[in-house]
Amino acid sequence: MIILGIETSCDETSVALVRDGRDVLVNHVASQVKLHERFGGVVPELASRAHLQLLAPMIDEVLATGGITLRELDAIAVTQGPGLIGALLVGVETAKSLAFCTARQLIPVHHIAAHLYAPFLRGDGQKTKNIVVYGNADRVESTEAKQSLCDEFGSEAPLRYPFVGLVVSGGHTSLILVHNPHHFELLGETVDDAAGEAFDKVAKLLDLGYPGGPVVDKWARRGDRRRFDLPRPMLHSGSFEFSFSGLKTAVAKIVHDLGRDAFAGDEQLVADLCASFQEAVVEVLLRKSAAALEAFGVKELAIVGGVACNSRLRTAVHDYLPGVRVVFPPPILCTDNAAMIAGLAWHLRDTAPARWLELEARADLPLVL
Ligand code: KG4
Ligand code: ZN
Repeated sequence: MIILGIETSCDETSVALVRDGRDVLVNHVASQVKLHERFGGVVPELASRAHLQLLAPMIDEVLATGGITLRELDAIAVTQGPGLIGALLVGVETAKSLAFCTARQLIPVHHIAAHLYAPFLRGDGQKTKNIVVYGNADRVESTEAKQSLCDEFGSEAPLRYPFVGLVVSGGHTSLILVHNPHHFELLGETVDDAAGEAFDKVAKLLDLGYPGGPVVDKWARRGDRRRFDLPRPMLHSGSFEFSFSGLKTAVAKIVHDLGRDAFAGDEQLVADLCASFQEAVVEVLLRKSAAALEAFGVKELAIVGGVACNSRLRTAVHDYLPGVRVVFPPPILCTDNAAMIAGLAWHLRDTAPARWLELEARADLPLVL
């Protein structure tokens, strides 16, 4: 069964073809980061317009790349929410039109549930493409990113249910007990900023650019993570909640106390502060995950979402979670992508609403009812 997936919840337009909930045949992701860069964050209006311009040609290209015709599709899957409402609307209405014209089933998917499904995907990565979108509000253009292909993924032993999922992105930081593709138990989430948001804000404080996660990660590689003694917020709270806004304020205080000029002329200082900040985030994320695994007697952890690309987070699991099996999807399946939507949809095909023409995008779609 081949499902075409569509993802437009934020600033990535993505279309994918996945067979039987597992094999990624094609996955194209067009990142709008360059469009939003100069505003220091995602501008919802710009995102919706770019999705509108990009989506239809991308569907054509993905079908052509996969050598699949519309008639050969078994179903269409789309992110229903949560996300930016205008951005979601573009995906949902396009998917409805496509399902109507092809007389195929439409399967709505929850964005976070889909992130938690990314570790189950398999593929050789050959038809996985990153596209960089640039331009302005009236006209967007795109180029293929240099490193568009990724290596074979999903070759190790599959993750087993139930597992603990740590979802870390620009909008979410949550610990979730995943019983099966339909059943999620929210253990805790951030009470203020998301982890990715904290990375973005710290990068802004240090004038490192946007989005902050990848740049802070890069600077931190040359830094001393013990130089600044930063707080580990809510580490001993006894709950599975997180808080990152105080950590960002602590970084702001250091920048203020030492003075901006000190940072402008001292690359090592910037690297050390990035490394110390990153370590504080990583330690809290991993120690709380360890506590959740222990509390629920679960053996495996999946870390998903954009922040799961972080290089220190990926290596620190050996320091903070020795002996625990931790699964990270490849980077292109950590950030927003349609393969995770089409993959999870295969499990939802029997429970998807029959009256799908009435389907509506929902900015606040809950994961756990
Ligand atoms: O999952 P995602 O693509 O979009 C959301 O649904 O939010 O995540 C984007 C977030 C951004 O905040 C970005 O700074 C962060 O993921 N991110 C990283 C890294 N790569 C992306 N954070 C830390 N280290 C990275 N290498
Ligand atoms: Zn996401």
